[in-house]
Amino acid sequence: MPFNGKVRDAARPAPIQAGPAFPTTRMRRNRRTDWSRRLTQENVLTPADFIWPIFVREGDNLREPVEAMPGVARYSCDTVADAVGEAKDLGIPVVAIFPFIEPDLKDAGGSISTQEDNLVCRAIRAIKAAHPDIGVQCDVALDPFTSHGHDGVLDENGEILNDDTVDVLCHQALIQAEAGCDVISPSDMMDGRIGAVRHALDEHGFGHVQILAYSAKYASAFYGPFREAVGSASTLGTASKATYQMNPANTDEALREVALDIAEGADMVMVKPGMPYLDVIRRVKDKFGMPTYGYQVSGEYSMIQAGALNGWIDGERCMMESLMAFKRAGANGVLSYFSVEAAKLLKRG
Ligand code: PBG
Repeated sequence: MPFNGKVRDAARPAPIQAGPAFPTTRMRRNRRTDWSRRLTQENVLTPADFIWPIFVREGDNLREPVEAMPGVARYSCDTVADAVGEAKDLGIPVVAIFPFIEPDLKDAGGSISTQEDNLVCRAIRAIKAAHPDIGVQCDVALDPFTSHGHDGVLDENGEILNDDTVDVLCHQALIQAEAGCDVISPSDMMDGRIGAVRHALDEHGFGHVQILAYSAKYASAFYGPFREAVGSASTLGTASKATYQMNPANTDEALREVALDIAEGADMVMVKPGMPYLDVIRRVKDKFGMPTYGYQVSGEYSMIQAGALNGWIDGERCMMESLMAFKRAGANGVLSYFSVEAAKLLKRG
């Protein structure tokens, strides 16, 4: 049909004109005013949605910047409690501890990971002594402690030994629980580790200690900056974690992983990374209705920070939008390096 000069007719062909909903239904009506947009908002972000990952290392009076993660620091055990206190005052319910282990303390078996007075346990005690009512979560995994940077112990051919690794993880979980850790968070992706850790905890009087399982954890390139932060970038080199972490192409497999972890006793489950895997969070939440968390990992954080520092994006708005996306996808909460900044912004209103 030749254009007759009337834009309205050209832009709105017959089906919309004839449709029953328009113009009776106008979606923009609810969006017209600020109060109405607030009234019709479906999801909210609060400080209680955040799990704040913090890095610790040996030393005194340290707040050492992590180069690949602008705004993130490694704390020594004497400064970490103050940092956690700030998070607590902002209403953040729980912090997750990640250690930078001195290179000369690492070995192939990650033996320092099971020593009762290691860095992680001292950090837990320092935090708990100062702030008994904030939750403390700890990774259970070997990669920060091993000379090869893998999350397991290896045989002579370099193959990761599943069941031998699980034994070490159980030992690690027990010393962390003993030090006062509230939430054990196995991040290694060995088979059967949730059941084994649950059993070990129960046997030793830690029946109250919760397990937040890294259930669907992918072999992701987005962990790059974290590996600098904990010092496993140089130990791991270009080695792949694909024999234990998941293939980024899969989502049915994520549901099977989550189902197993629930059956083995997980109290909460996690999908990791976060933003590129929001579809997985949604499927997990819909299928299991479990307390479900997403990890906005180091690479996601650093991309937003890099864009903001270059003036390419509005950092604060992108931060809040990215965090809200987790809630929209069905997550109960987010592990995020932005936790403190975002909680401050929420407080300001
Ligand atoms: C250790 C662990 C990793 C992360 C959390 N726990 C790294 C890895 O699996 O290689 C990544 C967190 C992040 O990138 O922010 N198993």
